[in-house]
Amino acid sequence: MAKLIDNSSSTYKNIKKVAVIGAGTMGAGIAGQVANAGVEVWLLDLPSSGDAVNALAERGFKRLKNIDSPGLMSNEAGQLIHCGNTQDDFDQLADCDWIAEAVVERLDVKHALYKRIDAITGPNTIVTSNTSTIPISLLTQGMPQAFCERFAITHFFNPVRFMRLLELVRGEHTQDEVINTLSQFCESNLGKGVVVCEDTPGFLGNRVGVFAIQCALHTAFNMGLSPNEADALFGRPMGIPKTGVFGLYDLIGIDLMADVAKSLESILPANDAFHQYAKPVPLMTQMIANGQTGNKGGQGFYRELDAGKEVLDLVSGTYQPTTRIQLPLAQKAEAHGVAALLDDDSVYGRFAWQVLSSTLNYAAALIPEIGSNILPIDDAMKLGYNWIYGPFELIDQIGAKRVVERMQKEGRDVAPMLALSAQKEGFYKVINKQLCSLDDSAEYVAIKRPSGVLRFSELRQTLTPKYSNAKASWFVHDNAAIVEFHSKANALDKDSMDVIRHALEQAQVLKLRGVVLHNDAQHFSCGVNLTAFRGFFEAEDYAGMDHFLNHFQQTMHAINRCTLPVIAAPAGMSIGGGFEVVLAADHVIGHSNCVMGLVESSVGVVPGGGGCKEYLYRWYEVLGDIKAAAWKAFMIVGYGWTAKSPIEATEQAMLYPEDQYMMNRDRLLSEALSQLDNVKKAKPRKPLPMAGEETYREMMDWLFEAHDQQKITAHDVVVGTELARIFTGGKVKANTMMSEQDLFDAERESFLRLAQSSATQARIVTMLDQGSPIRN
Ligand code: NAI
Repeated sequence: MAKLIDNSSSTYKNIKKVAVIGAGTMGAGIAGQVANAGVEVWLLDLPSSGDAVNALAERGFKRLKNIDSPGLMSNEAGQLIHCGNTQDDFDQLADCDWIAEAVVERLDVKHALYKRIDAITGPNTIVTSNTSTIPISLLTQGMPQAFCERFAITHFFNPVRFMRLLELVRGEHTQDEVINTLSQFCESNLGKGVVVCEDTPGFLGNRVGVFAIQCALHTAFNMGLSPNEADALFGRPMGIPKTGVFGLYDLIGIDLMADVAKSLESILPANDAFHQYAKPVPLMTQMIANGQTGNKGGQGFYRELDAGKEVLDLVSGTYQPTTRIQLPLAQKAEAHGVAALLDDDSVYGRFAWQVLSSTLNYAAALIPEIGSNILPIDDAMKLGYNWIYGPFELIDQIGAKRVVERMQKEGRDVAPMLALSAQKEGFYKVINKQLCSLDDSAEYVAIKRPSGVLRFSELRQTLTPKYSNAKASWFVHDNAAIVEFHSKANALDKDSMDVIRHALEQAQVLKLRGVVLHNDAQHFSCGVNLTAFRGFFEAEDYAGMDHFLNHFQQTMHAINRCTLPVIAAPAGMSIGGGFEVVLAADHVIGHSNCVMGLVESSVGVVPGGGGCKEYLYRWYEVLGDIKAAAWKAFMIVGYGWTAKSPIEATEQAMLYPEDQYMMNRDRLLSEALSQLDNVKKAKPRKPLPMAGEETYREMMDWLFEAHDQQKITAHDVVVGTELARIFTGGKVKANTMMSEQDLFDAERESFLRLAQSSATQARIVTMLDQGSPIRN
């Protein structure tokens, strides 16, 4: 099994036993992540009547096995969770190192629980609440000083396994030791980006995030934009997830979002700018009453019908058919950056300006209320709301002067921190090769991350690429080469391969320690650039396509042949061609939430960059039987199956047992750099004895039968036939030896045949026209 790298330091108390109280959405998620980190955890909820006394906790536990968003990484992790109830199992709390309370958001319920906890636990047990809205001063009101000293708020985001942000809030009496222990455990073991916050309403993520959403919503209504139009702007062009604003309302639940806005409204001071966007929109109140609550109610601002997608007309309140809209302004901003949105005086440009300027100014106005530095706000929005850039990074991209001048011209109040940045040189600046952020004292202070945390997005600003093109770059750091992909969704093409080749060659010339393949985007790589393939088949340039595939394969081969060790350190998705790059590396240090797999069959092709070859070798090494290996590879690649964790990936021979994973993706790069000197080069592949014709025919029979039973389509049979050919050698005698190059050739031949099929071409065109579901 791929090994978990445990890099928790022993400076602070070791957390070995945890209890989570409240097994709802959040409590179950927290328990799941604690178990993923290999720590024993009790998950308690209220007792239920009858025999199934632990029914509530067990229901929470069951949700962790949800197939679409599994909170648990493995069955082994599940075994570390004990389900119980607060009546029979309360004594389990006595020797816990940490008790995380995640019960309903009611002060009286929480207070009653703390009293019971205080009675049974001693000074060594840390207690935290997951509250979103209740100030710590209220939570601890009436509790003894000794309890307050060991109490804090740990505010996780949903879903806990996947959302990176943890807001850690200290009270007046919380001891440093408690904050440091939680900080370290949540950062190293639970893999969170810990942002230590003041006890201010909504903390940081929700304070800015809910403002931005409500502001975009009200502005869209005021300016008469449709949900489609607003989402096309308040989304990818601003570096915000493509659900946009109306899509996000549908996703979270329109009723729930209304409650969140109401609750924030009730706790923010009267002069807070949030109040101008806090009120519910009348149409939405009506929608909630009608049950149009979003995805969970089957309809919200959008709805999916068999006939297609529909969108709500915000004036008439009726649904109209819709398709994805392409706004030239949004496309321009996606290509050239957020500032391009503001060049335009159309209603779209004015909407973008209104939402951006208000949100960015609001974020700046939180200084000094939430602290003296801007960094925690940017961190919170990136880690908790999946924004690619934080508000202050966005201001730097637009130019603070430009924002300030336009706001002043419009007679609007400019936050002092924003005005300060316009007088200085932006919010971020590299000084003496160190990235610094602006403080409210007008000083730039060096950004310091916990030891072992190294974000490439920050490091790269202090480095000059050795070689770079539009899709990738490589750098030297710590006497090693770092290759970074940076295309949309990190799709790979000739340019990406050129950079890998260049880095491999030059790293040897420069006598570097090795090469690390890593980037800080949401996904390591979502595969080969399909637009490039479309270009080839639309021009009927199959020789060009073959040339590209060969270049890809030979680049993977060059990774293997390079005399220096090559480590892949992926996070997010590594699928299709992206996973072929991971497969080619000598060693993998991946993130615990990595998704990996050869998914090419879903597009109607086969892996053509060495993926089939490598995967067959790996199964053969595991099983020692080429026929069994061929069947494994055939089924898994045929179904385009993806592993949702490094543990699953190892079980399916996608990773080696020696490969490693880490809970915190911000630690991958530093760990990979430190391990370069110890990694052994993978041995060149010897020729393989192929399973041959008999197995090939068995696979064909399987395909026809599955088709007869309507389990797979006719085109799946065509793709499956090519996979059967590659994995068995086709119509060759059993044990015919095939070299690596033979297998490369077989992949390319199959790929080219499929690429000429109209069904494959139609699939690729549809996928591209509908837009990739994956964002970067
Ligand atoms: P939930 O309603 O899904 O779950 C609450 C659970 O607490 C239920 O299973 C309930 O049976 C249990 N419970 C109630 N009283 C109890 C008691 N006295 N002892 C033991 N269990 C008890 O709520 P959710 O969404 O998980 O929220 C929990 C906490 O986390 C709240 O404080 C909420 O503000 C906070 N939060 C929620 C987020 C979300 O997205 N849902 C995000 C961040 C924080």
